[in-house]
Amino acid sequence: MSLLCLTLCRNTLAANLEDLKMNTPHMAELRIDLLDPPERKHISDFPARAGIPLILTCRKKADGGEWSGTDSERESLLLAAMAGDFDYMDLEEDETSRRLVAEAEQRNTRIIRSFHDFKGVPSDLMQRLEAMSLKGDLVKAAVMPRGIADLLTLFKTGRQWREENPGKNNLILLGMGAFGVPSRILAQRCASFLTFCSPAGAEAAPGHMSRQTLEELYRVPEIDDDTQIFGIIGNPVLHTRSPHIHNPGFQDLGINAVYVPFTVDDVSAFFELADFLDIRGFSTTVPHKLAVREHLDREDEAVQAVSSCNTVVRSRKGWEGFNTDVEGFLRPLISRAGVLNGKTAAVIGAGGAARAVVYALVREGCRVSIFNRTESRAAALASEMGCSGYSLDKLRAEMDEGERYDIVVQTSSVGMHGTEGPSNPVPFYRFTGSELVYDIIYTPPVTEIMQRALDAGAAVLGGMPMLREQAFEQFLLFTGAEYPRKSSGMDQE
Ligand code: ATR
Repeated sequence: MSLLCLTLCRNTLAANLEDLKMNTPHMAELRIDLLDPPERKHISDFPARAGIPLILTCRKKADGGEWSGTDSERESLLLAAMAGDFDYMDLEEDETSRRLVAEAEQRNTRIIRSFHDFKGVPSDLMQRLEAMSLKGDLVKAAVMPRGIADLLTLFKTGRQWREENPGKNNLILLGMGAFGVPSRILAQRCASFLTFCSPAGAEAAPGHMSRQTLEELYRVPEIDDDTQIFGIIGNPVLHTRSPHIHNPGFQDLGINAVYVPFTVDDVSAFFELADFLDIRGFSTTVPHKLAVREHLDREDEAVQAVSSCNTVVRSRKGWEGFNTDVEGFLRPLISRAGVLNGKTAAVIGAGGAARAVVYALVREGCRVSIFNRTESRAAALASEMGCSGYSLDKLRAEMDEGERYDIVVQTSSVGMHGTEGPSNPVPFYRFTGSELVYDIIYTPPVTEIMQRALDAGAAVLGGMPMLREQAFEQFLLFTGAEYPRKSSGMDQE
């Protein structure tokens, strides 16, 4: 088990105490370099008031902290603070003060020897940790993985450390930044004695998560050797809502598993990591839905038809690929519209997201017309899927001619939160009120095209039900169990 250590990074001791009260971690690191100067004379009172194990740290600017005084002022400050009997004191690997070491020994304060690398993961990481261990009771390395291969190095180093130091629990190892996030959640697999967390709303370092996120969403203190690892790969991926679906599902069913976001730059390197960590399955998102295919041993029919894989599961036969977007898209639609066979459908957009939609509609017997800004893409997708493809101008002309569709599906990126440009790809569409308009975008929950349809009295569906349903299908593939539907907090979004 890895402990949750709150980084206390406020400028007053009172504010830090308040953070402790609000966040209730197992232990905390008091960053005295971040305190206002008048606070410094009261540091030794802090341990008694905090009531949990504390690390005393005064980080210099060169090491990523804020301390700008001289080395001897720093030594004096740390010596005075140690009168408060901190459990641990962090000293950089190159700290040479004998007085600090002697004082720590006398007070039974355990020394953590540490180094930070904000640029990368040093190739001699293991040797540096070993060298530091001669000068301290624990060793700490906080490094910056620049890709998934660097993250693998961290996990390998952690495992080697654990094998060479059985039962010692004397390592703190973590990766900073987006690529490092899994090392903070899976700190136990990095053999890390603790994982740092921030007070809610105050990110103390790149990639830091709150105590609540680590404890309640990822259940970090419960992760042990038997915890099955699942996740999602993408780039970027940290904004994804998928952990908020899968992790509560595991918890409700009492499954010892965790679902982790992996920022992935190199899919081949991720498969190496997946083997090393024995990852049981994962979701894939942009831009890796195609690239994972070359690593699969089997693919379901939907992956082959759509040329896109959003779910990978480890089985006895190797890595199996599935596409749950197809079922995820269909389920809300069928439950609203009933039998699709024979209905007419206009699909707006012909990009990656349209592929699963068009395949699903054609398979269910709809008469599908694709309309896209770039006509050639619509035509290419249509000829592949066995339907028709046109330009958006053709749809505009159809409106003038009185042509209408039973189902209108919006698959383009137009109208998505955060994108620039127009917010409705078909502002000219004249809804009769009898159609079903389905926008697969889920932020915002009601897009402009949906609002126009609602105003005309039409039925609408947003992208959230699809997101949920494709995830529920993944959960079944991952665990063999139906998703406990009440678990997902996504309805409140
Ligand atoms: P995704 O995988 O999310 O579908 P994509 O493959 O880049 O992403 O496709 C984006 C879709 O949105 C395309 O159909 C694109 O039209 P083009 O093929 O003409 O590029 C469509 N799209 C993006 N911006 C658009 C805009 N301003 N107006 C109309 N369609 C737009």
